[in-house]
Formats: sequence, C-alpha cells, structure tokens
Amino acid sequence: MASSDLAAKKFMQCLQYDSYGGGSASFKHVQVPVPTPNKNEVLLKLEATTINPIDWKIQKGLLRALFLPRHFPHIPCTDVAGEIVEVGPQVKRFKVGDKVLAKLTHQYGGGLAEFAVASESLTAARPIEVSAAEAAALPVAALTAHDALTQIAGVKLDGTGHPKNILITAASGGVGHYAVQLAKLGNTHVTATCGARNIDFVKGLGADEVLDYKTPEGAALKSPSGRKYDAVIHCTTGIPWSIFDSNLAQNGKVVDLTPDLSSFKTFALKKLTFSKKQLVPFIVSVKSEGLEYLVQLVKNGRLKTVMDSKFPLSKAEDAWAKSIDGHATGKIIVEP
Ligand SMILES: NC(=O)c1ccc[n+]([C@@H]2O[C@H](COP(=O)([O-])OP(=O)(O)OC[C@H]3O[C@@H](n4cnc5c(N)ncnc54)[C@H](OP(=O)(O)O)[C@@H]3O)[C@@H](O)[C@H]2O)c1
Repeated sequence: MASSDLAAKKFMQCLQYDSYGGGSASFKHVQVPVPTPNKNEVLLKLEATTINPIDWKIQKGLLRALFLPRHFPHIPCTDVAGEIVEVGPQVKRFKVGDKVLAKLTHQYGGGLAEFAVASESLTAARPIEVSAAEAAALPVAALTAHDALTQIAGVKLDGTGHPKNILITAASGGVGHYAVQLAKLGNTHVTATCGARNIDFVKGLGADEVLDYKTPEGAALKSPSGRKYDAVIHCTTGIPWSIFDSNLAQNGKVVDLTPDLSSFKTFALKKLTFSKKQLVPFIVSVKSEGLEYLVQLVKNGRLKTVMDSKFPLSKAEDAWAKSIDGHATGKIIVEP
C-alpha cells in the first residue's frame, strides 16, 4: 500500500486495557480511529514495538501517583519503529516515506497498534541496515544503559577514560544486554550477573567475568578476580546496600534503575553522611539525539539488539505475559 493510501486509512487494530490490574488477560483487541498528528508530530505505520517492564508496571497501577496512564482505555507501549505516513505542519526533519524509530509518551502510550503518532523531538531516522525490530528495541532499554554508564558511572564510550571496573546485574535482560556491550566500548572490566543458562550468552556480549545469581558467590556479587567495582549498573531488584557496600571501590556508585523507597532512603543517608560510596536512583529521559547515536552504533556493528522472541500484534498479550514473567533474554518484540 502506498504511504498516501495508508494515511487515508480511517481505522486500525490495537490492544487496549480499561482499568488497572488484570495483566495480559485484560487486553481487548479493538478497532479505533487512526490518530491524527498534531503540528509537531508524525504519524507512523508501525513495523515493530517492544515491551519494557515499565509498560506493565503502569498497568499494575505502580505509577498511578504520576497520573500514568492519563486515561482509560489505554493502548500501552512506547518504543516503536515504522514508516512515516503523515507529518504535522511544523515537522522539519522528516517527510512521508521516511523509516524511523521513536519513543511515544508513557502518558498516552500507543505502541500496541497498527499506527501511532510520535513527537518529532522523540523520533530518529532509521538506516536501512537496521531492521525495524532491532530499532524498536532501543529507546528505553539501550538509552537507559547508555546514560547510566556515561552520565553516572563516567564511562567514556570512545575508550579514552580511566580504566573502570563495572558490575552489571541482570546482564541477560533488555537493559543489561545493552549495558554489557556499551560498557565494553569504554575502558572497562565488566563483571556481570545472570542465570546459569545465560552465562555463555553474556560472555559472548563481551563480559569479562560472569556470576550465576543463584549461587552463593553470585548472590554475594563477589568479582572472581577480586576486583572492587567503580560502578554498578543495577538492572534487577532485591539486593541490600550491605552487599553492594563490601564490593564497591572507595568512590563506587550503584546506579539503581528500579528505585523504591528504600533506595531513596539509602541515597539520602549516603548524601547526609558525606559517604564516598553512593546509591544513585536513575530514571532515563529519552531524546532523539540519544536514539540517533544508538541506531548508528547498531548500523556500524558496534551494538546489537538480541531478541528474546517476536509476536504478531494478534498475540501481543502473550508477549505481555512473557515480559511480566521476567525471564526474557534480550528484548521482546511485537510486530503489527
Ligand atoms: N530507571 C529507568 O529509566 C529504567 C529504564 C528501563 C528499565 N528499568 C528497570 O530496569 C529493570 C530491568 O529492565 P529490563 O528491561 O532489563 O528487564 P527484563 O528484560 O525483563 O529482565 C529480565 C532478565 O533479568 C534476569 N534476572 C532477573 N532477576 C535477576 C537477578 N536477581 N540477578 C540476575 N539476573 C536476573 C532474568 O534472568 P533469568 O531468566 O535467568 O532469571 C532475565 O534475563 C526493570 O525493573 C525495569 O523497570 C528502569
């Protein structure tokens, strides 16, 4: 179908839920009007969408205090790739027919659908060498790994920085598998944790040493080579500060990607006591510049998206259940 015909399409298939809770069983497959782009937005014919844990945390009501989602019914998911079929009047960088990746907003979602509108400022061009699925997987997961490593851990991805010992927990997951690869672009020694079945996979991503998180050594986060960590990119939950403390270098930082009340208490305590070791709660902020940088790394073969599984839109509830299950190796993709 030509882009002009696609833009003229009035209705689309999507998945929605009507209230908090209910998991994958609460999804409804419905037909809704194709959204119209505002002046700074592009309309995308979607080719791939990924699921991030935040998508189902929003459904659980865990971000209700932040007014997420804005309203029901809600079409979830934010990280997408597709072709532009319409542009708003003030869009400058894109035209109809361009292949792009984009981050939709958590307020309005929209990714589990045939079409979605994206802000120009959260959209980046997708080179033909990068597939839609490889690109859709990037926004939240890869940018979180990138920003945690470069902004908080101080890793320079051109390799010019001081040598650093980095620990990456849950290195087999969506964020973790990007974090290992990106950390190894810098001057780092990477220790990683994952389940036994993923040890070879995580070594293959470049980790220098890998711990099985279900063993006593893994639970203790002890580097097999005796290193102390300058930074931890902490991609899982449930590890007390005391475990990190004994493994950190003098000025070591734990970048906590899933901060809860106890993380904020530890953060405050470390600040108030002028501790050199710190816990840093971190939430990513996606911008198109970051997406452009990452998609170029994929194009140049310096970063890869590993796909756990792909599901058609008609079976997106199975993809949703798999993400909630918490055992993905890499990224879960939905294709309209
Ligand atoms: N702050 C932010 O801006 C931000 C952004 C993105 C994500 N996050 C958060 O970061 C966390 C990770 O996200 P994700 O997308 O990477 O999740 P994910 O892909 O669902 O992670 C699944 C992986 O984690 C592994 N895993 C689970 N528990 C583990 C443990 N205790 N030790 C080692 N590995 C473990 C699993 O391995 P097994 O199958 O072997 O158990 C699986 O391979 C989530 O809580 C997410 O909400 C935060």
